[in-house]
Amino acid sequence: MSIYQLTVNKKKHRVDVDSDTPLLWVIRDVIGYTGTKFGCGMGLCGACTVLLNGSPVRSCSTPVSTLKATDKITTIEGLSEKATHPVQEAWVEAQVPQCGYCQSGQILAASALLASNPNPSDEDIDNAMAGNICRCGTYPRMRQAIHSAAK
Ligand code: FES
Repeated sequence: MSIYQLTVNKKKHRVDVDSDTPLLWVIRDVIGYTGTKFGCGMGLCGACTVLLNGSPVRSCSTPVSTLKATDKITTIEGLSEKATHPVQEAWVEAQVPQCGYCQSGQILAASALLASNPNPSDEDIDNAMAGNICRCGTYPRMRQAIHSAAK
């Protein structure tokens, strides 16, 4: 076990874990933000997506030892300073979720897309969201919500 300093949702955390512990389990089991979900555990589905310095990463495949204390990690709980982020509002308006399991990862990926590309095309959206799988097939509603949030 080793001590790591992490900044998650603008709060500093000191955690004592094995160096190869995936960020996902540190976030969920040590720090307690359970909005980040475990899906495949192999970097393939995107359910565990968090933002690392504003970019989406697979927290299941990010060992805690690769992170610096100055890195800014954002989970769904810290996406907005207000109660909801515009992407979350668009998600509600478009009634995107079905089972909902993948949606925190989807919303974080969508928010990162809009931060770098405020007016994405359908192709931009499909490319940016391609790594986030939804077994319920909510892709058309997610695309609609992203366009709506872009307005
Ligand atoms: Fe991390 Fe599937 S749980 S990509």
